[in-house]
Amino acid sequence: MAADIDFDRIPRSAVPGLLARAPKAELHMHIEGSLEPELIFALAARNGVALRHASIDALRAAYAFTDLQSFLDIYYAGASVLLHEQDFYDLAWAYFEKAAADNIVHAELFFDPQTHTARGVPIGAVIEGLSRACADARARLGVSAALILCFLRHLSEEDALATLAQALPYRGHFIGVGLDSAERGHPPGKFQRVFARCAALGLRRVAHAGEEGPPAYIEEALDLLGVARIDHGVRAVESPALMARLARERVPLTVCPLSNVKLRVVPDLAAHPLPQMLAAGLAVTVNSDDPAYFGGYLNQNLLALFDAQPRWGAREAYRLARNSLEASFAPPPAQAAWIAALDAEFRQAALWSGGRP
Ligand code: ADE
Ligand code: ZN
Repeated sequence: MAADIDFDRIPRSAVPGLLARAPKAELHMHIEGSLEPELIFALAARNGVALRHASIDALRAAYAFTDLQSFLDIYYAGASVLLHEQDFYDLAWAYFEKAAADNIVHAELFFDPQTHTARGVPIGAVIEGLSRACADARARLGVSAALILCFLRHLSEEDALATLAQALPYRGHFIGVGLDSAERGHPPGKFQRVFARCAALGLRRVAHAGEEGPPAYIEEALDLLGVARIDHGVRAVESPALMARLARERVPLTVCPLSNVKLRVVPDLAAHPLPQMLAAGLAVTVNSDDPAYFGGYLNQNLLALFDAQPRWGAREAYRLARNSLEASFAPPPAQAAWIAALDAEFRQAALWSGGRP
């Protein structure tokens, strides 16, 4: 923690504004999960794609999920309107405008190439469209952006290896690889060979683990895939030994509170394990996962989480924002500059307030 910030002087009433203004990194956001119903219908019309739902309202009404798979079925159907390079650009640009409004200074976006190549979309259209939006986000919005290619774990490792081979001509456009989709029955170890190849290529590695899957999947992701971060990881709280390891090794966990409620990983935000994880010294970050489907972008996740934690104050707000910057794959000088801006925001709040209300 920044030693010279007097967090106790910052009243709780100032925290929502601070959360919104703080420079933050988003490290767990599936770009296909930011596809809003309005854009689904606009792209369907532009591309002549028939949709199962008759209207935007009817589609939104279908967003009542019972578990991860019930969401994935609707999420993959929504992505079927994405066909051309410009569609991927438009999708990512819409997200970056929202990210800038949330004061996100750095975003590492997941994308699922197999969802698109399986429909005959060239992988180059996917990667070049997203990458062009990342470049524009940097140039026009001042948002630093990078791409992480995710393998779909319900498919085979051979399919993942073939996807990696297809993506290699675009190696300069993505910084790393991840593992997502249906977790149960698809342990990280299934992808050991493809992750080893990615390691040899110098790619960063992350994996979804411990969302619906058991704590052992988190250990496998660390030990067999060599990941630098765990996506979700909330089921770690079931294993005291794993909690101790994650704290000791300062393994970042990209947690997604609204997602966990919508997919019934937890009953409600008051019961969410993130406060327990933070208190245990884990490097947790808050993220939006699939914001178009789960009811909120990054700041809405943070605000909802704080609403459910009446005892939290500026110290926790600072810690979560700082964790997000430190857990990013951005170069250390960029991280240091964002942390200095974060410190300035909180220092000023401490100086201007007259102490606790
Ligand atoms: N793909 C998009 N969102 C996901 C999630 N929450 N878990 C696994 N795969 C996903
Ligand atoms: Zn996810």
